[in-house]
Amino acid sequence: MSDSLRLALIVLACVAVTLWAWRRFHRRSFWLIAAYPLTALSVRATWRKVALGCGLTKKRARWAFTLTPGALVSTGTVKVRRRFRRVAVDTKPWMWLPMPTRHGWRATLRLLEGQIPDDYAQAAERLAHSWGVHAVRVSSPRPGRLVINTTIRDPLVQVDHLPPSTELLKVTVGRLETGKPWVIDFRTVPHWINAGATQSGKSNLANALLVGLAPQPVALVGFDLKGGVEFTPYAARLSALATERAECTRLLADLIGMMIDRMGLCRMTGARNIWQLPPAVRPVPVVVLVDELAELYLMADKSEKDDIARTSTALLRIGQLGRAFGIYLFCSGQRIGSDLGPGVTALRAQCSGRICHRVNDPETATMTLGDLDPAALVSARAIPAETPGVAIVASQDGQWYRARSFYVAENTAEHAAKTYAHLTPSWDDLTAAQPVDVPA
Ligand SMILES: Nc1ncnc2c1ncn2[C@@H]1O[C@H](COP(=O)(O)OP(=O)(O)OP(=O)(O)O)[C@@H](O)[C@H]1O
Ligand SMILES: [Mg+2]
Repeated sequence: MSDSLRLALIVLACVAVTLWAWRRFHRRSFWLIAAYPLTALSVRATWRKVALGCGLTKKRARWAFTLTPGALVSTGTVKVRRRFRRVAVDTKPWMWLPMPTRHGWRATLRLLEGQIPDDYAQAAERLAHSWGVHAVRVSSPRPGRLVINTTIRDPLVQVDHLPPSTELLKVTVGRLETGKPWVIDFRTVPHWINAGATQSGKSNLANALLVGLAPQPVALVGFDLKGGVEFTPYAARLSALATERAECTRLLADLIGMMIDRMGLCRMTGARNIWQLPPAVRPVPVVVLVDELAELYLMADKSEKDDIARTSTALLRIGQLGRAFGIYLFCSGQRIGSDLGPGVTALRAQCSGRICHRVNDPETATMTLGDLDPAALVSARAIPAETPGVAIVASQDGQWYRARSFYVAENTAEHAAKTYAHLTPSWDDLTAAQPVDVPA
């Protein structure tokens, strides 16, 4: 081997190792400086082929020079003539230069006549395969324009922690696939449904919520008909915990009583909700965590019928009126369907916050996410079992996102519950009649 060849091989090996190390240890700068420009150029260069393959082009008549075979000359070759005439060509939608994002790139397109964003949503999977990326999502910021967002690799395989939110009743529970924080804000969306198959990460999310709410001046109430195994370890930070049906009925009756008291207080002061009350008399907000909601509705024998009817009515009343009086619901369950009774359907309608973890059947996804974009339902069913905690979240902005909760081990949640046990308002204080004298 000549010296120059050896030198070239050594240089090549050094470059390869440097690139590998750069990508391995500082993926972000590697993506922005080295990989993104090449990706952007290749996406633009191959856009016509990709759009054609995905059925996103339109035929248009254009003037063009064409070669027309003429007479056969004596040498045996065909003489061709150039002619200027109208031909039908495939036109691609105009694409601006793709811009880099945290996990991929984003490109704006101008829709061709007769196209709607849904045409692109339907072709999203085809586009993802053509570009070799994890996922393609489309949105339309204004009529005639379309934004294609690609994520190269699933950003939810590993999620790193974010700083906790410092605002009341707002908890950062995980990360969205866009890289933004996944925030549950009870003051914006008061009641939530958290559904998913077994081992999909429902309780982990409840743990994340508990850890986030524990340092805040709020009361936490638990309903755990799984024999109390989920919430009993957090009892120190719970103002009340019900683990049996009779306890549930009593606790719900107390919550309704508390709500009626708060109504009276608001009425007396002319406030429409507790947030309009002076801080000195404003009652403590209460977050009600329910694990395995279905258990509250399941009837073992006929004697439980009345209890279940009372439970169902009470939950529904909290769902309807709780927001104004600072009582918020977070209901987890494997199935939250109409087969559990009409009470569940009505409660579901009151819960505008929807979280759907991995599900086994399309009905559960439909029940949880309602009539959201059908792609959201497909996405919910495609969540792999290896990534518990991944969920489809119907967000406050009317969009849906894939998200993953932070992993919060039971002992972390237990530790938080013990650390902030001194902030737990006593149930007796909470349910005591509200003060009548309101300072001016
Ligand atoms: N965000 C996450 N990141 C990593 N692991 C997670 C995450 N969420 C959950 N897990 C893991 O998945 C397992 C199941 O989670 P979890 O107990 O929350 O499921 P579940 O839906 O409540 O199940 P079940 O219906 O049986 O109560 C847990 O052991 C936990 O370690
Ligand atoms: Mg659970």
